[in-house]
Amino acid sequence: MRLGIPKETSSDERRVALVPETVARLGDGVDVLVEAGAGDAAGFPDAAYTEAGAQIGDPWSADVVAKVASPTPDETAKLREGQVLIAFLQPLTDTAGVERLAAAGVHAFALESIPRITRAQSMDALSSQATVSGYKGALIAADRLPRFLPMLMTAAGTIPPAKVLVLGAGVAGLQAIATARRLGAVVSAFDVRPAVREQVESLGATFLDVGVSGEETEGGYARELTPEQQAAQQAELQKRIPTFDAVITTAAIPGRPAPKLITAEAVRAMRPGSVIVDLAAESGGNCELTEPGAEIVESGVTIVGTTNLPSTMPTHASQLLSRNVASLVGLFVSDGQLVIDWDDEIISGSSVTRREVSA
Ligand code: NAI
Repeated sequence: MRLGIPKETSSDERRVALVPETVARLGDGVDVLVEAGAGDAAGFPDAAYTEAGAQIGDPWSADVVAKVASPTPDETAKLREGQVLIAFLQPLTDTAGVERLAAAGVHAFALESIPRITRAQSMDALSSQATVSGYKGALIAADRLPRFLPMLMTAAGTIPPAKVLVLGAGVAGLQAIATARRLGAVVSAFDVRPAVREQVESLGATFLDVGVSGEETEGGYARELTPEQQAAQQAELQKRIPTFDAVITTAAIPGRPAPKLITAEAVRAMRPGSVIVDLAAESGGNCELTEPGAEIVESGVTIVGTTNLPSTMPTHASQLLSRNVASLVGLFVSDGQLVIDWDDEIISGSSVTRREVSA
């Protein structure tokens, strides 16, 4: 079976779907074809791929194509019927992209849709990339704050530790908590899923009770709050937020716009110099004033809406993603041949075009 790894074409995508280290792990039955320069932006030159046993060539001719971002219309035109595509396909929001793939007869599998079951843990690309986002989010908060994070006792006086609030304590939020704690901040966190309290406390942070608790779906995700619950949450947060120096927000509901947790009024109530890092910017942001893709200052408060944070740490983000991709690709190989076992719940769960293809 041949696996193709294209070079990403979006200017803000520095990751690559497979790194040299993983090439050997795929085993003898898989020949890897990497597009020239595919790993350059992530720190993996062509020579590293060829040393690992891959070939530099046309990745679109392979049986399975694995990439990071959803293919553009031009890229989709390079795919042929029956080919397997693996990528972050945004199946819940990019209907046009999925329809294009279905029309091309491509068997497309979305990394986002891999069921979060124990057997699929090594393939969980959402978690591996959220880990990067959470870590980077805490570093950005530390960098933009005009103050120290840790408590310092110096001859020139004592500096109290910064207070950081993390909203949404899923994979990214928990990593943000751990990173801010390591830097010495005093951290509080909130999530609508009550089960999270224990995880927050085990990281040495305080669970901030805002009196709103939501339900968890079977997949472990939060259900969207009712408008009344959302209003109550905003009002309570508005009272609490001015006591924090930095707020890192990660709250998300799959396939839905990010819940608005911080109103414009709440921003204006914060002290000048405070920072909001909105990791939900890609799906609209948790703060009413967030401008996705931009960093703004409003009433002295810096609001960071940078999107695609994993791409800003492309080496390790790609390394983790590569292991996820390799595990998933492993399900498609039997005796060196491409086999799609539709009875496998990971394969059927992550397929986004099958219904259309067989119709
Ligand atoms: P996510 O990225 O979809 O959402 C981030 C967080 O925002 C979630 O914790 C969610 O509860 C929270 N949230 C949603 N609305 C909110 C609101 N209005 N206010 C405050 N917080 C809000 O979630 P993520 O990080 O992908 O994790 C979701 C779940 O999946 C977690 O329970 C996690 O532990 C679980 N998981 C399970 C894995 C497995 O293999 N079994 C692997 C990874 C995660």
